[in-house]
Amino acid sequence: MNQPHITFVGAGNMATSLAGGLIQQGTAANQITLCDINPEALERAAQTLGVLTSQDAQAACAHADVVVIAVKPQVVASVVPALKTAIATRNALVISIVAGTPLSRFADWLGSAAVVRCMPNTPALVGLGATGLWANPQVSTEQRDLAQRILSAVGCAVWLESEAQIDAITALSGSGPAYYFLVMEAMISAGIALGLPAPIARQMTLQTALGAAQMAIQSDVEPDELRRRVTSPGGTTQAALERLEQGELRKLFADALTAACERSRELARS
Ligand SMILES: NC(=O)c1ccc[n+]([C@@H]2O[C@H](COP(=O)([O-])OP(=O)(O)OC[C@H]3O[C@@H](n4cnc5c(N)ncnc54)[C@H](OP(=O)(O)O)[C@@H]3O)[C@@H](O)[C@H]2O)c1
Repeated sequence: MNQPHITFVGAGNMATSLAGGLIQQGTAANQITLCDINPEALERAAQTLGVLTSQDAQAACAHADVVVIAVKPQVVASVVPALKTAIATRNALVISIVAGTPLSRFADWLGSAAVVRCMPNTPALVGLGATGLWANPQVSTEQRDLAQRILSAVGCAVWLESEAQIDAITALSGSGPAYYFLVMEAMISAGIALGLPAPIARQMTLQTALGAAQMAIQSDVEPDELRRRVTSPGGTTQAALERLEQGELRKLFADALTAACERSRELARS
């Protein structure tokens, strides 16, 4: 399928980031429609991205090959059922980025439509997202490739082995940026307590986070080996790491991610 028409329902942060990423990667702006109830959001999208816009989601979905559901979880049940006929018109692929909404709900609303459920994360807003995907059996190989291409426009997109893994992905990468922000806050405060000016503590913390992530991504060895290589016996790094291990940092992360995963399951059931 060459240049499929992609309609986003909800023109907020995630939809505009995805649309922007797709355009940067060569999708024609007139192959993308953004729908929203908020005319100001549509005006902004039309001006900044040059995409088509509509306040009538049903009409916009009727000529779509892909419908991306990008509204908040609180409103998804009041938005999706009304799109059933329009989506069936062209057997459109539905891609949901809505947190905590299982495929079984989409089956209730849309019958046998092909649906991919995704869990992206906030760095998608700067093109560095990490998204886990899971498809229902109706999704064809061609549609899987299309979903992968769309989510890859804002970072990496990885197929999961089961829908249940979405809860683990939510705990790991969905909520993950906040864990790194907390570590950054803690390091900035510690740097200031050691006598550094706040702007320097901030700059050095953020650059170190970026550098460590880039090294880990580019390296052909695992993070534990990278850690060993920068830890000289009896040195400063070892002194710090011993304290972190004594404080049971690994167990703390295991407990934290388990709590997030359980909460994700609870929210999906509610
Ligand atoms: N942001 C993230 O990092 C992230 C990560 C993972 C998953 N997600 C999921 O992505 C989805 C979108 O998140 P977001 O951050 O982009 O939210 P957002 O910025 O609030 O965008 C949602 C948009 O949908 C509009 N809307 C509300 N009701 C509508 C309706 N009936 N028809 C059409 N549009 C409607 C909203 O308008 P109003 O503002 O006027 O209500 C808003 O412009 C959410 O379900 C979220 O769970 C987001």
